[in-house]
Amino acid sequence: MDSILIQGGRPLNGSVETSGAKNAALPLLAAAILTDKPVVYQRVPHLRDITTMITLLANQGADVSIDDLGRVRVDTASSNNPEAPYELVKTMRASALVLGPLLARFGRARVSLPGGCAIGARPMDLHLKGLEAMGAEITVEHGYVDAVVKNRLHGAHIAFDKVTVTGTENLMMAATLADGETVLENAACEPEVVNLAESLRSMGADIDGDGGSSIRIRGVESLAGGELSVIADRIEAATYLAAGLISGGEVTATNIEADLLDTFLARLRDAGAVVETGEDWVRCSAPNGLKAVNIETSPHPGFPTDLQAQFMAMMCIAEGSSVIRETIFENRFMHVQELRRMGAQIVLNGNMAVVEGIKQLSGAPVMATDLRASASLVLAGLAASGETIISRVYHIDRGYERIEEKLGQLGASIQRTTPNTDMFRRADLVTN
Ligand code: EPZ
Repeated sequence: MDSILIQGGRPLNGSVETSGAKNAALPLLAAAILTDKPVVYQRVPHLRDITTMITLLANQGADVSIDDLGRVRVDTASSNNPEAPYELVKTMRASALVLGPLLARFGRARVSLPGGCAIGARPMDLHLKGLEAMGAEITVEHGYVDAVVKNRLHGAHIAFDKVTVTGTENLMMAATLADGETVLENAACEPEVVNLAESLRSMGADIDGDGGSSIRIRGVESLAGGELSVIADRIEAATYLAAGLISGGEVTATNIEADLLDTFLARLRDAGAVVETGEDWVRCSAPNGLKAVNIETSPHPGFPTDLQAQFMAMMCIAEGSSVIRETIFENRFMHVQELRRMGAQIVLNGNMAVVEGIKQLSGAPVMATDLRASASLVLAGLAASGETIISRVYHIDRGYERIEEKLGQLGASIQRTTPNTDMFRRADLVTN
């Protein structure tokens, strides 16, 4: 398993180009199942999770190719295996996004339950309840969801008792080919949901209300193919802006619209950061350091849970103490014990963390536990004095494209090591 080695204490400066959003590309790729015509995708990020989704589609019989411009082409005309096996789903729970499209296109689906993950139980009961309301017969046994619909899904009025991003996306996709109208109440309004709705409309779907909490979908007979564009990854961009701030530098994230980061940027301003924005770029610096700010995660347009760990890393060296409340996932503080190993002063109480800012973190060997927790450890390593080694970086590769290359271009001293070089490194330590 690879590790990432960081020599901290160097300010990061410069520009970094934002990739396409992982959490937009995943549902978009699943949408190719809804049509037997080819779909071409612009700006798909090169990430482990994307590779998993592409493998899943190919496993169903789809023809998937990538051209020399990096555009991904998916043709599911020959797909004939409406399955998502455990071997793939266990590595990426977002595989559940194929369930709605498979049911809508083929009338049946067999999708492995994802199982738990580091940040919480992550059930999919709301996905299943919605599909049953649309006429699916669902049995769950031996770790698999088996779903079948007699002839065609039918429209339904579905009120989510919790806001669920992929639940909204799964049911919105299923409803595009259902007989009649579907209304999704208390729907997620994340930008990635809007990107999916706009893409489905370009394929001939009849959807409105996306971006709000009530989405209306009128089923059509079939969808066309098309050329879809993935929106910018707001979580990636925010992570690099945080890298500039935590290291005392100034980073510009390009190819990103500032309004995708509204709440995050507002909190940064509260923390004393200087935030400048242009048509498709955002620049942040904190010439006078950062002040402690309280945050509470909530569904969009609130503070994104996917930025909680990164924000906490910044608060570890802010002036004063901050209260961070995580309201979306029940166990999304796995980064805390690792940050403590670097000297962070953090007290946990249920879903609340109180962070007492200190002058400087100290580098240490730490372990990545989940995608965004590992990003927060990278940020802490950039700010810390001395060397930080982050193990299990496969977590980072799930959501950050070429992270050490992008951070290296900003001036970070960062390298990826594989176990054998680690061994030499340890030997090196022994000899000198
Ligand atoms: C999406 O996950 C994102 N993943 C997550 O990003 C993100 O953290 C999350 O939304 C919240 O914004 C993708 O889009 C691929 P939810 P999702 O359903 O859809 C509960 C990252 O780091 N719930 O909105 O799985 C659930 O347990 C990842 O990129 C049910 O109880 O999250 C949670 O407490 C991590 N039953 C809450 O709802 C259900 O059927 C919100 O989860 C579904 C969800």
